[in-house]
Amino acid sequence: MENNKKFFIETYGCQMNFSDSEIVASILEEAGYYSTKEIREADMILINTCSIRDHAEQRVRKRLEYMQSLKKKKPGIVIGMLGCMAERLKTQLLEEEKVLDLIAGPDSYRDLPQLLAEVESGSKAVNTSLSVEETYADVSPLRYDSNGISAFISIMRGCGNYCAYCVVPYVRGQERSRNANSILTEAESLFNKGFREITLLGQNVNSYSWNEGANKVDFAKLLGKIAQLNPLFRIRFATSHPKDLSDELLQTIAIYPNICRSIHLPVQSGSNHILRHMNRGYTREHYLERITSIRRILPDCAISTDIIAGFCSESEEDYRDTLMLMEEVGFDYAFMFRYSERPDTLAANRYKDDVLTGVKDSRLSEIINLQQKLSFQSNKRDVGKTFEVLIEGFSKRSDDFYFGRTSQNKVVVFPLTKNNPGDYIQVKIDRFTSATLIGEAI
Ligand code: 5AD
Ligand code: SF4
Repeated sequence: MENNKKFFIETYGCQMNFSDSEIVASILEEAGYYSTKEIREADMILINTCSIRDHAEQRVRKRLEYMQSLKKKKPGIVIGMLGCMAERLKTQLLEEEKVLDLIAGPDSYRDLPQLLAEVESGSKAVNTSLSVEETYADVSPLRYDSNGISAFISIMRGCGNYCAYCVVPYVRGQERSRNANSILTEAESLFNKGFREITLLGQNVNSYSWNEGANKVDFAKLLGKIAQLNPLFRIRFATSHPKDLSDELLQTIAIYPNICRSIHLPVQSGSNHILRHMNRGYTREHYLERITSIRRILPDCAISTDIIAGFCSESEEDYRDTLMLMEEVGFDYAFMFRYSERPDTLAANRYKDDVLTGVKDSRLSEIINLQQKLSFQSNKRDVGKTFEVLIEGFSKRSDDFYFGRTSQNKVVVFPLTKNNPGDYIQVKIDRFTSATLIGEAI
């Protein structure tokens, strides 16, 4: 089918959502629509949304006000909501947000051409059914907003962990792994197109599992297979779950220099009482033991984390346990959040959101201050060292500088050389700012 209609996708939330938007773009181009980067040119705007915290949803609600004004100027424009918020609120959204013509949850993207046809024939269209098997394995994502060097590959969907605070299992469905061969084929084709770095995505990549006849592929095996494609192909992955991160996986990483020395291991809290309430499936001691293993098997590995401040019943002592754990590990980087109750989660059903907002805020800001100190120390340790950097492009601040990343996922800026983006280069670090290492190619 050919038509001249152009779509624009706006993405909120996690890396998985950005990866999903590329799947959506591919499905729509296959159906004869065209992708545009110019929102004013678009005949349809699809907003891929996140529900992880209330704030994420409020941002989208605000954005819909702008869409309303666009629709006034261009009445034929189609506005659709995709992703987690679409899944969570379903048809209720059509009542609340009159501007919306279409609602599609994360497992119904193959149905988008059909849904758009329904909208064109004058009705509103909704599909929010979740699947136990959809992985879009055969869809080749359209990397419409790519630097041509790094890409995401989604290897799993959904989540089966049911952390008490988390909406993900309800909006993304059961955990399922994608066919290992389709992942390898996609990785190989990206390398052949000039890409030099991929990030394998899943809510808990450590529980990846694919059975090919009698041959079982777990995450360590999958990583090994991809690492062998080419030594110039860097591999990253996110997210690891502390309860499932095995020594076998760490040993696989140790074998291949092109598997990046960077592990994102969300701890959420340093208190055993809170971890139990969160249904995280590990203790503080287990987490610290996993950190010891990482340091032993991968001594140059960076470790980042996620932390939630002010979860239900968190006491001053629980919160101090989190600060102490942060100091003990010395995280290189952290994403830090104030607890936000999500409807229908275990915590919303069972616990009281009883930490006062002011207390949550002051705990969060102290956690952020501590992490700033730890990140500063981490960057300071890198001064004088030389890192292999994959060049991604010109620095945002100046065309006289390139920027790229170390294996540890730190951004490095250095004066231009004769190399091109996609090349590897050795850079010696001589100073740093809060988010960037600065050095010189050697
Ligand atoms: N409130 C605050 N933070 C949350 N996260 C997940 N759910 C919530 C919530 N309800 C955080 C966790 C998770 C990250 C992706 O978002 O730290 O690891
Ligand atoms: Fe990603 Fe979770 Fe947000 Fe959905 S709710 S976009 S899975 S972070």
